[in-house]
Amino acid sequence: MRSVAITNIGRLVTNDPSLGAGLLGELRDAAMVIEDGRVAWVGASADVPAAERGIDAEGRAILPGFVDSHAHLMFAGDRADEFAARMAGEKYAAGGIRSTVAATRAATDEQLEARLVALAAEMRASGITTFESKSGYGLTVADEARALEIASRHTAETTYLGAHVVPAEYADRGKTGVDEYVNLVKNEMLAATAPHAKWIDVFCDRGAFDPDQAREILLAGKSVGLAPRIHANQLQHGDGIRLAVELDCASADHCTHMTEADIDALAGSNTVATLLPGAEFSTRAEYPDARRLWQAGATVAIATDCNPGSSYTTSMPFCIAVAVRDMRFTPEQAIWSATMGGAKALRRNDIGHLRLGARADLVQLTTDSHIHLAYRPGVNLIHSVHTAEDFA
Ligand code: NIG
Ligand code: FE
Repeated sequence: MRSVAITNIGRLVTNDPSLGAGLLGELRDAAMVIEDGRVAWVGASADVPAAERGIDAEGRAILPGFVDSHAHLMFAGDRADEFAARMAGEKYAAGGIRSTVAATRAATDEQLEARLVALAAEMRASGITTFESKSGYGLTVADEARALEIASRHTAETTYLGAHVVPAEYADRGKTGVDEYVNLVKNEMLAATAPHAKWIDVFCDRGAFDPDQAREILLAGKSVGLAPRIHANQLQHGDGIRLAVELDCASADHCTHMTEADIDALAGSNTVATLLPGAEFSTRAEYPDARRLWQAGATVAIATDCNPGSSYTTSMPFCIAVAVRDMRFTPEQAIWSATMGGAKALRRNDIGHLRLGARADLVQLTTDSHIHLAYRPGVNLIHSVHTAEDFA
């Protein structure tokens, strides 16, 4: 058995209130022992048991690695000009996705994989130790299948998003074309992608798919063993959030436009409300009220939504800072949502916390307090990032 003791941790966030103080189960002057990549002991630094190897945290803070439960990393090109036009007053619309679809179809497998690897490295440098990645910029059977096959080499959390938008060659033919595309997504494209995907997602919003189409597609995915999640209520009010609850989706993502009924539905469900601060930031949209969701009893996650259109960031600390400043979260709530909340949105019990038995996925900050993640926006506070494999 390989054991490592990390001592002199200024503040240790465990996310287990039975191990330490408050929501984050925080210990001061703490230590932890990791055996074969799993957390085996947590307590006061003075009481640490012997281990084969030691790491001195020199007073720095340690927290669970961030869990990014929503990202779109399989694409080519970028849309910097579209962003600049938006900042000059243009509105964000789902249709912009089609320009990334053209670039993605034209890219080689190697180019797509290299982009994903580069973005995953950025994520890791920002403290993300688990990430999800969606397809959705190929929108042909072969392009969606290759996107997921490539992504599955790098993460277990792969999501089939053939229902991102209706591609131009179908949309141009009106309702007949749209119906044909929905059929393709539910049948041939689903069959080709399912072997490489764990999740199925639909962009259920203005300019994309309506709730009836979303229900049909998600049920087809469920019938072949994919678990559902939804892009809901980003661009307007609608039935997406309630559909997520109806289908027991792991998560309803965006939730930018919410009614009291939406909040109540989420609060009484197993569906996580995943907020994407980078998307509101980069589309200059109104921020949803995270505190209201939290107080109602909903489980909330924060994710990057990394994609070239609405949120081209891989930085979870940035998302935390924005969620605190503009979504009315406390730093503790935002940090919980970026760790435990993300794990719940992926229905994972082994990550997002540092309880006994957890994977030793952790982030060491350059400072002694996790609060600095929101208090010092834009400053790189990541000292080092480890995953269980590093200790095994
Ligand atoms: O999550 N909302 C839909 N999909 C992405 C944006 C995609 C794009 O604009 O390229 C999102 O924000
Ligand atoms: Fe998204």
